[in-house]
Amino acid sequence: MTVREILKMGDPRLLRVAEPVTEFDTPAMRTLIADMFDTMHAANGAGLAAPQIGVNLQLVIFGFKQNPRYPDAPQVPETVLINPVLTPLSDAQEEGYEGCLSVPGLRGSVPRYTSLRYQGVDQYNQPILREVDGFHARVVQHEVDHLLGILYPMRIRDFSRFGYTEVMFPELDPNDDD
Ligand code: NI
Repeated sequence: MTVREILKMGDPRLLRVAEPVTEFDTPAMRTLIADMFDTMHAANGAGLAAPQIGVNLQLVIFGFKQNPRYPDAPQVPETVLINPVLTPLSDAQEEGYEGCLSVPGLRGSVPRYTSLRYQGVDQYNQPILREVDGFHARVVQHEVDHLLGILYPMRIRDFSRFGYTEVMFPELDPNDDD
């Protein structure tokens, strides 16, 4: 079990466009994915993108049954998504609060497509194709943004809805180091 250091906003490695994954199910890839799950779980994250631990590959993980950082969120299946392509299913967007392990202690309201299709492959290069909405769609858009060098504060339109988690959501456990 290896919990890796999560890069924080301001680190230029978070602003790169990630490279496609071309090798699957190698020892290096298995170790990387296991470390990403250890790192995400240790931080109670809903998702994690490889660039957040300094690995510039198109690889994200996400999913949880219950998440203390997002107590009202419905469960999202645990997923390894590689080389993803997102296609919105309509122009409809909705605002919702997000945090990010690379932006600790803060939350902001971000517009996201309400429903979308995502395609890619898993860690065994097997195809993934899902149509999702709501929080699941939001998590995928947030994580795939990391592969484009985009952090959620860059998407905020109304900065009156951006602030410290402990002030805006005092019911959340401050020990969740988000
Ligand atoms: Ni994030």
